Amino acid sequence: MFSLKGQTAIVTGGASGIGLATVWMLAELGANIVIADLNEEAGADAVRQLEGEGAEALFLRTNVAEAADVDALITATLERFKGMEILMHFAGIGLEQHVLDTTRENWERIIGVNLTGSFLMLQAAGRVMVEKGYGRIVAMSSMAGVRGGTGRTAYGASKGGVSAMMRVMAMEWAKHGVTVNALAPGGIETALVKKMHDAETRRAYLAGIPMDRYGTPEEVAAAAVYLALPQSSYITGVNLPVDGGFDASGVIKSG
Ligand SMILES: NC(=O)c1ccc[n+]([C@@H]2O[C@H](COP(=O)([O-])OP(=O)(O)OC[C@H]3O[C@@H](n4cnc5c(N)ncnc54)[C@H](O)[C@@H]3O)[C@@H](O)[C@H]2O)c1
Repeated sequence: MFSLKGQTAIVTGGASGIGLATVWMLAELGANIVIADLNEEAGADAVRQLEGEGAEALFLRTNVAEAADVDALITATLERFKGMEILMHFAGIGLEQHVLDTTRENWERIIGVNLTGSFLMLQAAGRVMVEKGYGRIVAMSSMAGVRGGTGRTAYGASKGGVSAMMRVMAMEWAKHGVTVNALAPGGIETALVKKMHDAETRRAYLAGIPMDRYGTPEEVAAAAVYLALPQSSYITGVNLPVDGGFDASGVIKSG
C-alpha cells in the first residue's frame, strides 16, 4: 500500500543517527536517496551499503549552513534523479550550556547550523517543490524547542525557531501541494545524545517520560517516513512529538 518508488529523497544528516535510520526506511519503500552530510566517511559507507541492497543512492558532502553547498546539493540531485519530492532536513548539532555561560560564539554556531541551515535547506527545496506542485518536507525540531529544559538556551531557541518557520512555510505552500511538518523528538539514543546527556541529565529526563525510556532512531524514522508519503496529504504545519509521552505528561503516579 505504501510506496515511494520513483521518488527522490534528500536526507540531510543522513550519515548518522535518526537520519541514517530514515534513509534505510525510505530506501525500503523504493525511494532514491541523497545523503547530504558533513561526515564523508559515514555518508559514503552508507551509500555503498544501500547500493549493495539494490537502492539508488548518492552522497554529497554538504554543510547545510552554507548557501553555496545547499545550492550545489539541489543542482546535483536534480541532475542525477531529475526530481526531488522529499526533503528530510535532520542535520543538526547539540549544546547543553546554562544561560549565563552561553557565549555569543556558541549561540551563533548553534543558531547558524540548526536555524539558518534549516532556512536555507527548506527554502531551496520549497522553491523546486512549489514549482512542481508537489512535495513533502520534514524538518527537525525537538522537545527542547517546546519545553523549557535547563541548559537549552541556544539549542532550544534554534529548535523553537525551526517550528515557527515550518508553520509559516506550511501556510505559504499549502495551496501548492507541498506539506511542511516537523518532528519534535524527546531523548533518542544517538551519537548526539551520548555527547549531550550526562548521567544527571538522563536521570532527570527519564523521571518525566511516561514510557520510562529513551526512544530509538527507528521510532523517529517511522514518524518521518509517514509524513513523506503521498498518503499524508492532509497533514501540514504539525510539530509532531516523538517522545514517549513527555510533552503530554503531567503528574505521573506509578499506580
Ligand atoms: N537524539 C535526540 O535525542 C534528538 C532529540 C531531538 C532532536 N534531535 C535532532 O535530530 C537531528 C539528528 O540528530 P541525531 O541525534 O540523529 O544526531 P547525530 O549526531 O547522530 O546526527 C546528526 C548528523 O548531522 C550531521 N551534521 C551536523 N552538522 C551538519 C552540517 N552543518 N551540515 C551537514 N550535516 C551536518 C552530522 O555529521 C551527523 O551525521 C538533529 O537536528 C537533532 O538536533 C535529536
